[in-house]
Amino acid sequence: MPLEYLSEVKELVRTKISLAIENTNLIEESMSYSALSNSKMIRAGLIFASSELNANLSRNSTLTLASSVELMHTYSLIHDDLPCMDDDNLRRGQPSNHVKYGEANAVLAGDALQALAYEIICDDEDMKSEEKVHAIKLLSNSCGKTGMIHGQYLDILHENNLENINQDILEEIHNLKTGRLIECSVMLGQIGSDSNKNTQNVLKEFSKKIGLAFQITDDILDVTETEDVLGKNNNSDIKNNKATYVEIVGLDNALKRASDLTNSALSMLIESDLDNKDTLVSLARYIIKRSN
Ligand code: IPE
Ligand code: IPE
Ligand code: MG
Ligand code: MG
Ligand code: MG
Repeated sequence: MPLEYLSEVKELVRTKISLAIENTNLIEESMSYSALSNSKMIRAGLIFASSELNANLSRNSTLTLASSVELMHTYSLIHDDLPCMDDDNLRRGQPSNHVKYGEANAVLAGDALQALAYEIICDDEDMKSEEKVHAIKLLSNSCGKTGMIHGQYLDILHENNLENINQDILEEIHNLKTGRLIECSVMLGQIGSDSNKNTQNVLKEFSKKIGLAFQITDDILDVTETEDVLGKNNNSDIKNNKATYVEIVGLDNALKRASDLTNSALSMLIESDLDNKDTLVSLARYIIKRSN
């Protein structure tokens, strides 16, 4: 069920993104190369799934927000692969953006994808102006200097510095570099919602837990899967001497933590009186069961 759902979402998002990026110059070509390449679209899926609980967000605007988050995510991956960051040459089953287009163009394509993520929200035809501002605020706050970028900074800072890290610090890095955008995806699906504070809190806690489980699983897959299955370099974290969940607590404990977080996220959601939560439940399960 999650794979079919995600593949429908992927079709919609790819169409929307291909209309938003033209092909008039090399930077646009480079943007499309990464943004339209084969990916799981989990963040977009989470926005659609969350919007199933929100009658006030149109399908069109759900697609806008889903595409926006995927553009932002793609930008983060292009920069994450750069030689000055993780220095990886394979992404989504093809050469990384900087391998294909050169470092300068990869930096610029990432920058332009980020700007486009905001632009398509501004251009949305259904959301009210204040809803757009709310969405842009959520996204910028999740990705900026106290969100994803801070996480990426700490991730690099702790390379080759495994003595000075513990599980709590590592969880904070994971929450920031990956969890925040996942939490943001679930909350973007709630734009315009008139549900009560309790519902919003349940969704926030749920998304924090699955966000952390997502990055723990990514750390696990880095050492347990092949490049063919991942579509990206395996053992990248070992190469860079990164602080990862597997490195700090071992594979078995990492698997257990991801599973405990997911179970706790699921019980919160299942025990709540929220309607239409089945897709969120199935995506949460998929996040730790996936093989890439
Ligand atoms: C990879 O994200 C980067 C992380 C934050 C761990 P995904 O595993 O969602 O990558 P794609 O989008 O499917 O390529
Ligand atoms: C990436 O984490 C997080 C962001 C891009 C913000 P990783 O460096 O572990 O992601 P992969 O494994 O390269 O996809
Ligand atoms: Mg990285
Ligand atoms: Mg990386
Ligand atoms: Mg990784």
